[in-house]
Amino acid sequence: MERVIGIDLGTTNSCVAIVDDDGVPQVIPNRGGYKTTPSIVAITEAGRRLVGHIAKRQAITNAENTVYTAKRLIGRKWDSAPVRSARQSVSYTIEEGPHGDVRIRLRDQAYSVQEISAMILQEMKLVAEEAYPGETISRAVITVPAYFNDGQRQATKDAGQIAGLEVIRIINEPTAAALAYGYGKSLNKMVAVFDLGGGTFDISILEIGEGGVFKVVATAGDTFLGGEDFDLRIMDWLIDGFKKEHGVDLRQDRMALQRLKDAAEKAKCELSAVSEVDINLPFIISHGPTNEALHLQRQIDRATVENLCADLVQRCIEICQGTLKDAQLGAAEIDEVVLVGGMTRMPAVQKACAAFFKREPSKGVHPDEVVAVGAAIQGKALTDEHEDLILLDVTPHALGLLTAGNNFDELIAQNTTVPTSATKTFTTSRDQQTAVKILVMQREGTENQLLGEFLLTGLRSAPKGQVEIEVTFAIDSDGIVSVSAKDTETGLEQSIQVTASSGLTQEEIGQMMESAEEYMIERKESDELEGAKQQAEKLVSEVEKLFPQVEAVVSSSDFGREALAKARDVIVKTKDAIERRDAAQLKEQGEALSRTLKMFKGVASRPS
Ligand SMILES: Nc1ncnc2c1ncn2[C@@H]1O[C@H](COP(=O)(O)OP(=O)(O)OP(=O)(O)O)[C@@H](O)[C@H]1O
Ligand SMILES: [Mg+2]
Repeated sequence: MERVIGIDLGTTNSCVAIVDDDGVPQVIPNRGGYKTTPSIVAITEAGRRLVGHIAKRQAITNAENTVYTAKRLIGRKWDSAPVRSARQSVSYTIEEGPHGDVRIRLRDQAYSVQEISAMILQEMKLVAEEAYPGETISRAVITVPAYFNDGQRQATKDAGQIAGLEVIRIINEPTAAALAYGYGKSLNKMVAVFDLGGGTFDISILEIGEGGVFKVVATAGDTFLGGEDFDLRIMDWLIDGFKKEHGVDLRQDRMALQRLKDAAEKAKCELSAVSEVDINLPFIISHGPTNEALHLQRQIDRATVENLCADLVQRCIEICQGTLKDAQLGAAEIDEVVLVGGMTRMPAVQKACAAFFKREPSKGVHPDEVVAVGAAIQGKALTDEHEDLILLDVTPHALGLLTAGNNFDELIAQNTTVPTSATKTFTTSRDQQTAVKILVMQREGTENQLLGEFLLTGLRSAPKGQVEIEVTFAIDSDGIVSVSAKDTETGLEQSIQVTASSGLTQEEIGQMMESAEEYMIERKESDELEGAKQQAEKLVSEVEKLFPQVEAVVSSSDFGREALAKARDVIVKTKDAIERRDAAQLKEQGEALSRTLKMFKGVASRPS
């Protein structure tokens, strides 16, 4: 049975987990031994792709070609408020794509956000494959913020496909966290999952029942509220202070911005443990107004950061309030509060959460790892019939249609258990009308978002009012919306065209998959080459070390001198193969060198 991995594709960090052969869910560490991998992608000057820690390490010197927080852009329209805001603060270039979508320019190429996310997913797939050598891992459960809308979910699924993954389910992050928290414990509890990560905030109320039933009662959130916003507040504070002191606007300098972002995040994290930190950024400007170098040096304390970010914390609490109300529960009816996401380490967040729910949060889960672990558990449950797990999630947004006069006609209410569907009958309003246009909307908070414009075409030609079309709107278990239509009299299914989606076409996805595959082949070859090179270097050094010793023993005979000449020759050829990165030669000379080393070791160990 092929394994299923669970991937938490985070704004800041991603994590991959699996249920191992003994049925224990485990996070899989990456090559460097870290359990999470920064969700950062870069292209170097030489055109090499970097993902994760190595991309993060070069972010300052390659700021324009390093993408972070791509999740804040995924599935969003170019002209949306969040994208406008991101354009102000990121160090890379964002462009408008052919579908009114967002593209990211790295070096000489524009990438869709789905492709950038796919690069991170590919990396997580590799992390898993390295842990299970010889196995191909291609099936995954990927998590998304509970408050993600249809477009964001679809785009995440597309990213999975581009990465060569079969996405067997998209699940909500807080739901995954609850699964990890309650799995195998036979609880009977009402649980609130408070998830504040790098980019998004989610709150979900779940009823965990005996027999492995996890039922989401209500959920809400904000997909543009997270650690990034806290960092930006600290950055603004630093930038404003610097401007007052030196009259220089650091916003104009991309490298300075990247250094400020790093410093702001670092200070924020440190202030969770200590009450005061120094921020030191020497040579933040190499040539100031009078050509002198300028340094940024400031002290910041916890109270200042709490002040700068008070409204952000307050927004989380207000969303919690709304969700409890939707769930028709009082704070006292919540048995346990589970904190998820790195930002919940901030004392002010913990305090606000504890005050609102009137209880100390549970310390039982790892805030960075639970989401991936929950996804792995769900993956196992979906593919193993012996798993007793029932997961009932809800749709975070109401689904409806836009009717005349810009009215929202609700078809599926927020917090309805998914999968679900609703049917509406349309009647033609003109004689011989052959097409009907339907605007499908999702309500996010108080705003209506256009999901798609569906054109029902090829209707029967008949007098007005005589053609009835039954349109079914469905939300599947991934939270993704689909529409189908039927002529009630003839039973004929109607064709539906989507015209206003900002997603990718199947053709584009196909092309992106191909280039992702090509990259994987190149990457594997280059990894193998790197391995062979390191192995060869090691052999050369061992042989060279033994050389004088062996020479002393064997150089007196013709046979010995011949062997030494041969060994010298192999060393030269190997060094040359290393230099030229010649895989075939590396293999051949590597084998010859191994034989030489064996012989040398034999000679060297002989008593003289
Ligand atoms: N000790 C700490 N104190 C304060 N903030 C912290 C601490 N440790 C991590 N963070 C913040 O937590 C955020 C990352 O959290 P996490 O890894 O849970 O996010 P994510 O899963 O990548 O994002 P999301 O779930 O929003 O997509 C960052 O903003 C980081 O600065
Ligand atoms: Mg997260």
